[in-house]
Amino acid sequence: MANFNRIASSYDFLKKIIFGEQIEKATNHFLNQMPSNSKILIVGGGTGKILGNFDSSQVIKYLELSKAMINRANEVKSNATIEFIQSDILEWTSNEKYDFVITPFFLDCFNEDQLNSIFLKLKNVLNKKGKWIQTDFYPKNKAQVLMIKIMYAFFILSTNLKTKELANFDLFFEKHQFLLLRKALFYHSMVESKIYQNIG
Ligand SMILES: C[S@@+](CC[C@H](N)C(=O)[O-])C[C@H]1O[C@@H](n2cnc3c(N)ncnc32)[C@H](O)[C@@H]1O
Repeated sequence: MANFNRIASSYDFLKKIIFGEQIEKATNHFLNQMPSNSKILIVGGGTGKILGNFDSSQVIKYLELSKAMINRANEVKSNATIEFIQSDILEWTSNEKYDFVITPFFLDCFNEDQLNSIFLKLKNVLNKKGKWIQTDFYPKNKAQVLMIKIMYAFFILSTNLKTKELANFDLFFEKHQFLLLRKALFYHSMVESKIYQNIG
């Protein structure tokens, strides 16, 4: 399993050098679609910058494998009530239900078999009409594909990530019965943020 502990301290810096504010902008784009009192599951949130965007009525579970990332996220000022859970999503189980699931640059860490079990698990914890905010890389041309390859090489070396390429996330959302409500493009259209509704 990938271990992001080693790069947790430099993660935001590297992200900013390469993408400026675009990753944050994409991640935060649909957060205003969450009404007050929402129950939210954030998976693989990393250093937790996203946590500054919630109000005091919102209740968040923050599921993250890396202890070093959780330590950083714990320092972020947020108005919401947050519970941090250090766990591997592939082993995590829960009987709770959520109004929203958020996966910011998280699904890119997994191969297709793993994604199938993650989709089943996350669909299962979403309320019947719950929504899923997904943000990740969706390369549109050869230069962007090359950039993704270089990023994978970096993560394979620095975190021992086993995944080597992006899956077709759109197919997974379709297969697991999610309806795309809206999407927005960032960073030369290479990054997409999408909000889906559970319809199954
Ligand atoms: C590419 S980083 C994205 C971090 C953050 N969301 C961002 O956009 O900057 C992926 C994050 O997912 C976490 N992660 C990777 N595999 C995981 C797993 N199996 N279970 C839970 N979290 C995991 C990593 O620790 C890391 O923080």
